[in-house]
Amino acid sequence: MRTQVAIIGSGPSGLLLGQLLTEAGIGNIIFDRVSKDYILGRVRAGVLEEGTVRLVDEANAGARMHAEGLPHNGFSLAFDGRDHRIDLHGLTGGKRVMVYGQTEVTRDLMESREKSGAETIYEASNVQPHDFDSAASYVTYEKDGTTHRIDCDFIAGCDGFHGTSRKAVPKSAIRVFEKIYPFGWLGILAEVPPVNHELIYANHPRGFALCSMRSLTRSRYYIQCALDEKIEDWSDDRFWDELRRRLPAHHAEALITAPSFEKSIAPLRSFVAEPMRFGRMFLVGDAAHIVPPTGAKGLNLAASDVYYLFNGLREHYQERSAAGINAYSEKALARVWKAVRFSWWMTTMLHRFPETGDFDQKIQEAELDYLTHSRAASMALAENYVGLPY
Ligand code: FAD
Ligand code: DHB
Repeated sequence: MRTQVAIIGSGPSGLLLGQLLTEAGIGNIIFDRVSKDYILGRVRAGVLEEGTVRLVDEANAGARMHAEGLPHNGFSLAFDGRDHRIDLHGLTGGKRVMVYGQTEVTRDLMESREKSGAETIYEASNVQPHDFDSAASYVTYEKDGTTHRIDCDFIAGCDGFHGTSRKAVPKSAIRVFEKIYPFGWLGILAEVPPVNHELIYANHPRGFALCSMRSLTRSRYYIQCALDEKIEDWSDDRFWDELRRRLPAHHAEALITAPSFEKSIAPLRSFVAEPMRFGRMFLVGDAAHIVPPTGAKGLNLAASDVYYLFNGLREHYQERSAAGINAYSEKALARVWKAVRFSWWMTTMLHRFPETGDFDQKIQEAELDYLTHSRAASMALAENYVGLPY
């Protein structure tokens, strides 16, 4: 069998790229090692930049996002018992973000893909990219006891941080940059109205907290936790008590609680692999880079990679020009590093590090005070939060 673009991974990167290619008449097949239901059970990001929203629209999968998503014009930074609103809309000349869960974006892209008739092979084991340094690339996978081979023009490695694509590249051809943070995020979902109509990022001597949401009746809350914490040790009551302690009093008093229906711990990491192209294989999204979640950049960076790669592939097929695919790695990495810097900065400013003493806490509070009172500093924060242009 043959296709034009073989896409490894059916997360947001793979699905978005697949739908854009299909809409442009470029053939593609997606392979994922797990099932559709497993993918839809993963709770991850919640904030979409305007560029991501635009791409989901272009992929013809934006109708439900516009009907049910929540446009947000600002968010709050809480510290030292106070909270300050960052007016994203005012500070960026009219930009905003959309609060709409990654699970929902994924579901919408899957539905559009099914309608368009493009093929996805779920539960494919041992997916492997081959010969991507030649013009005769192919992908193999096993399913129902048989090994299959798909020949292709290009391979898109959209298979996340633990995927097979990056691992298939010889170590001498790739350079990695990594930083592991000494804490994680404990997150819950609960069927309760959000404590505030916008997100709250809170710096507190006990650790960071984030109040987010999935809808007007469903809240997503996170607290910073130690890396060796066990989820079984965190009853809902313990979680709610700890969250209240880290919020300014007026929010703590307004917090509505209920049993959680999802609870998980995520480690925090910054990671970049360079370059993002190896012959006829491209790395996209988490396969090439990871950011700590502070600032909500992971999914949005996957989307900007897809934008550059899709346009490069479209130019290759429709205009017979290699300029776009030749520039892919450089263009994507330039934006990636700026988001890596922003996520690292937000993480550093808002979390309690093991070595943080009273001095460091005061420095963080001084930075937050400056940030919220200087228009220039607030503008730089807002410009990055809504997403740098592409
Ligand atoms: P993924 O979503 O990881 O998708 C990769 C796909 O490839 C998966 O479906 C996987 O099953 C498949 N795959 C993997 N290996 C193979 C293989 N060998 N063969 C075939 N298929 C394979 N970002 C935020 O902005 N905010 C957040 O709050 C946030 N929370 C997160 C919490 C967690 C636990 C994680 C892991 C990530 C979180 N992120 C968050 C990051 C965000 O979810 C990712 O940036 C985004 O999912 C990247 O999309 P992707 O399609 O590149 O990769
Ligand atoms: C969410 C996650 C983030 O990392 C963030 O910065 C904002 C929101 C969320 O899951 O809702």
